[in-house]
Amino acid sequence: MSERPSAPSTVLVTGGAGFIGSHACVELLDHGYEVIVVDDYSNSSPRVFARVERIAGRFVGAVYELDIRDRRALSAVFDRHPVDAVVHFAAHKAVGESTRMPVTYYDVNVGGTTALLHVMAEHGVRSLVFSSSCSVYGEAGEGPLDEDTPHRPTNPYASSKALCEAVLADVCRTDPRWTVLCLRYFNPAGAHPSGLLGEDPHGTPDNLFPYLAQVGVGRRPRLRVFGADWPTPDGTAIRDYLHVMDTVEAHRVALDRLADSSGMTVFNLGRGQGSSVLDVLAAFERASGRTIPHEITERRAGDVAALVADAGAVARAWGWRPTRDLADMCRDAWRFQQLNPDGLQGEPRRPGTTK
Ligand code: NAD
Ligand code: WQD
Repeated sequence: MSERPSAPSTVLVTGGAGFIGSHACVELLDHGYEVIVVDDYSNSSPRVFARVERIAGRFVGAVYELDIRDRRALSAVFDRHPVDAVVHFAAHKAVGESTRMPVTYYDVNVGGTTALLHVMAEHGVRSLVFSSSCSVYGEAGEGPLDEDTPHRPTNPYASSKALCEAVLADVCRTDPRWTVLCLRYFNPAGAHPSGLLGEDPHGTPDNLFPYLAQVGVGRRPRLRVFGADWPTPDGTAIRDYLHVMDTVEAHRVALDRLADSSGMTVFNLGRGQGSSVLDVLAAFERASGRTIPHEITERRAGDVAALVADAGAVARAWGWRPTRDLADMCRDAWRFQQLNPDGLQGEPRRPGTTK
């Protein structure tokens, strides 16, 4: 366990049953934090916690099934637990869905965040690590993109994250007691190396990695490659994929650093290396030893040609650098999918999960 004399000890993780949140729970438990989770399971399952605890060899302090917009329920959690800081993952994240349901996305993502901020302030908790997204940069053009790149969101999901950032900046500007570390992730992918945790979305996956993995195990017939006419070397779109284990390590470092920070700080989380859809497909075929059937289709609405991070700022400030590459992401995502071809749906519910 690392020495953290002034770091928070009890951390509330919103969305802790989700893809990144569940891996973050393991990372925080591994480093001695007490972890409390709230989640409404709209895109996850409470079954994940038995696995989190099995990996960490420790128990999550408490798990509450609630919608973060329910201020009364959220407040009761803060009444019961001595929360020092919050890591706020809970949000809806499907770009395509956000174009069909913008009000829901603003309600959950922005309204959920303002509800959380109200309840935190009422309980004297003013330390937050916030999940933002490279999608706030939108049509930013050629990368690598640093944190000063202007926001040009191209869909309601991205706009909702940009709005959350604006709210958080105003909160920090008007009240110096707040500390917010805002992490803009590029494309988290991969899975826990144990194969016990991974990306297990409800319904048809939107994101490339879980879709590829489901094609790999035969749950879906083929991958549709959204456009081969992008202005990129092979014509397919380029993204900066980051292993989920590197992503959650950055969150643990953020918590360790909260006490030394003040106001709002924004960092990109990425590897600074772009991979095209065809690069990822080839890497996944190598990792799985399987041929992944695919076809080139039209571009997906709202997509952009390339998004690659300049992740130098966080490295200079905290010394955090990703250590895993695309092959590691493919190997771990494939292991999770092979061990859990149908996701976690068949597992028993964690005893003691509260309503
Ligand atoms: P996820 O959907 O797996 O996890 C989100 C979790 O929040 C889920 O468990 C879901 O059930 C829960 N949730 C949603 N709405 C809720 C509500 N109203 N009340 C309580 N719980 C609620 O997604 P993820 O990939 O783990 O993403 C976590 C965070 O990171 C999100 O804020 C997302 O926008 C952000 N992010 C993700 C990516 C990515 O590619 N995965 C990239 C950039 C940013
Ligand atoms: C990656 C690439 C697709 C699926 C979104 C958000 C971003 C972040 C990550 C939350 C793109 C292509 C995908 C498929 C494909 N999330 N693709 N066939 O769109 O870069 O980013 O998720 O914040 O903010 O915008 O990620 O994984 O959906 O797509 O060809 O079936 O793979 O077109 O080029 P994206 P993704």
